[in-house]
Amino acid sequence: MKIGVLTSGGDAPGMNAAIRAVVKASMKKGFECYGVFRGYDGLIDGEVERIDSRFVSGSIQRGGTILQTARCPRFLTEEGQEKACTVAKTFGLDALVCIGGDGTMRGAIDLAKGGVNVMFIPATIDNDVAYTDYTIGFDSAVNTALEAIGKVRDTTAAHDRSVVIEVMGRHCGDIALAAGMSGGAEKILVPGDTVDINEIAREIIVGQQHGRKHYIVIKAEGVDYDTAKLAKDIEAASGHECKSIALSYIQRGGSPTASDRILGSLFGVKAVELIADGFTNRAVGEVGREIINLPIEEALNSPAKEPVVDIEICNIIA
Ligand code: ADP
Ligand code: F6P
Repeated sequence: MKIGVLTSGGDAPGMNAAIRAVVKASMKKGFECYGVFRGYDGLIDGEVERIDSRFVSGSIQRGGTILQTARCPRFLTEEGQEKACTVAKTFGLDALVCIGGDGTMRGAIDLAKGGVNVMFIPATIDNDVAYTDYTIGFDSAVNTALEAIGKVRDTTAAHDRSVVIEVMGRHCGDIALAAGMSGGAEKILVPGDTVDINEIAREIIVGQQHGRKHYIVIKAEGVDYDTAKLAKDIEAASGHECKSIALSYIQRGGSPTASDRILGSLFGVKAVELIADGFTNRAVGEVGREIINLPIEEALNSPAKEPVVDIEICNIIA
């Protein structure tokens, strides 16, 4: 059998563990492995190379993706998708493992419609793929954000300041909730929230009167309020200095946590087992600590999942 593997969309720590597992599990079964470079862009352009255990050697601890990745507007066109399917067939791929987020999953479904057997592995720091409790990369991003929050907290407390820290997540608030709760934030703002400046200002003033040295707001990037403006507005309303910082790509890079390496490894092995057992067009995930798989179209249509952490509980301990 010939197994292709690609990473697509935003890179996520732990993608390399998944690639490594796909390659190693394939080798064990005597399958040939083909790396497709730069996601759907590379598929369209035929950037496909035979890879083996040497290719993945030393990769498990590295951030980013050794296959590289891309946002690929060309793939959104019929022409691009037809070309991608033709390339997969020309290389004789019996299955293509697509590792990425929500957009990558939609793309994989289009490939399946074009006759390519696809296996989808969810990997994005955003944790916004509905059918799986966790995506590869989320835990690493949260831990990187947490480390940064700790550092910002030190300097904020030293100066009796407040701070707004923006984290990634696109339209999802999971990174903000998990990093905010574990980082002891005073306020967590997630997409859909209405920002009440006066309430925040009141909490800052009362907190200072009781000797609180810092006030940390963790704001998900999907919140409809500019981060720098939010800090200025809080400062104006509270009369206390308030700074802002966006953690941006810092939280997407770096060495993956053990959890993400394990998740990537388990997902990669499962994808190859499914291919070996003759399954087609499946999505692999984790639900209630079990590795699960389901038809990829069903996975896409799964109802939205609950936030990773209950905001009400966050509010109790803020
Ligand atoms: P992620 O996979 O992390 O969500 P993107 O949303 O950028 O990242 O998706 C990765 C790629 O998947 C896109 O660049 C595009 O080529 C493809 N893609 C995204 N959305 C769709 C869609 N609705 N239909 C087909 N392909 C899509
Ligand atoms: O999907 C991962 C992510 O990092 C989001 O959190 C963020 O909104 C987006 O990608 C940034 O995309 P780009 O890398 O294209 O700037």
